[in-house]
Amino acid sequence: MSSVNITGTGMYIPAQIVTNEDMKRFVDTSDEWIVQRTGIRERHFSQGEPNWYMGVQAAKQAVGNAGVDPKEIDVIISCSITPDYFYPTIACTVQDELGADNAFCWNMEAACSGFIYALDVARSYLAVGSAKTVLIVCSENMSKSLDFTDRSTCVLFGDGAAAAVVQKGDGLYASCMGSDGRTGAALLARALPLDTPFATEKDDPKYAKYMEANDPYLKMNGRAVYRFTAHAIPNMVTGACERAGIQVEDLDLIVPHQANLRIIETAAERLHVPMEKMYVNIDRYANTSCASVPICLAELVADGRLKRGDKIALAGFGGGLTCGAVVFEW
Ligand code: COA
Repeated sequence: MSSVNITGTGMYIPAQIVTNEDMKRFVDTSDEWIVQRTGIRERHFSQGEPNWYMGVQAAKQAVGNAGVDPKEIDVIISCSITPDYFYPTIACTVQDELGADNAFCWNMEAACSGFIYALDVARSYLAVGSAKTVLIVCSENMSKSLDFTDRSTCVLFGDGAAAAVVQKGDGLYASCMGSDGRTGAALLARALPLDTPFATEKDDPKYAKYMEANDPYLKMNGRAVYRFTAHAIPNMVTGACERAGIQVEDLDLIVPHQANLRIIETAAERLHVPMEKMYVNIDRYANTSCASVPICLAELVADGRLKRGDKIALAGFGGGLTCGAVVFEW
């Protein structure tokens, strides 16, 4: 079967650590509440490193670890919901900084599910032969989209970037993706408003899709997202395993999006998988959106915890709402 071979990973985490105790400077919260409800103990916030810079550092590390010449890269896909610019995309900036002159570069957006969706797209390019080497770069400055007066959201997220070089593999591969636009209002952030001298009907109620998004900060209905995710990971992982022709118990490791430890524990229970098979680093980084799954991969590789042939599932969920899982042999 045409699969993926992740030949290099890299990550960049801003040096500045912000503990739960530090967050008490901004909102009425406690280390106990945050740890009990989410598993988060600390996160890293940028001291000024912009999104593109973090992405470039992660990409350079991934390309170096893969041992490929940047000129061999055919496609760069970036994912981000917190870019510095709408355009040029981070992918194009990474191309410039790496000298990946032969790549075509574009940005895809599936919020926290970004890496999972991008890996599936990369696999398609590799399977049809339109690319031999794909670089995926996920970079998030979540801190700039946080309202530091809203305790229900600002404690949950962190900054970070990660990248992966993806080439064609031969083992099993399957994906299972799903989106539910009906629940879009549960997690949203506004883009530029249509506020010009010509937009005289901009306040017409028929255009009021997500009225609560009246400022640029991330808004979330935590319970609605929780309800969605409690089913999303188990359903997507089970679906991908079925398509791959394996049982969930055959998986050596599941790498879930790091949004909440309780969500990961619930997923493990529903999948009848021991927690030792669920990779967790949310305590150190909080939710870094689309960077979370590739940060986990970069750590796993650096720690030598993945062996060729291991069957792994990557699972994500996020704004949209979107969710998805891919299953493949490392
Ligand atoms: N510190 C202290 N108290 C807080 C708090 C904080 N940081 N944030 C919220 N609270 C309070 C609330 O105000 C509420 O108080 P009240 O009962 O007096 O009104 C109480 O804690 C319970 O709030 P609730 O929202 O019901 O908590 P919860 O158990 O649902 O946990 C989340 C909240 C956000 C942790 C949880 O809903 C969640 O993780 N949802 C999924 C979010 C997610 O994964 N998002 C990213 C998707 S990519």
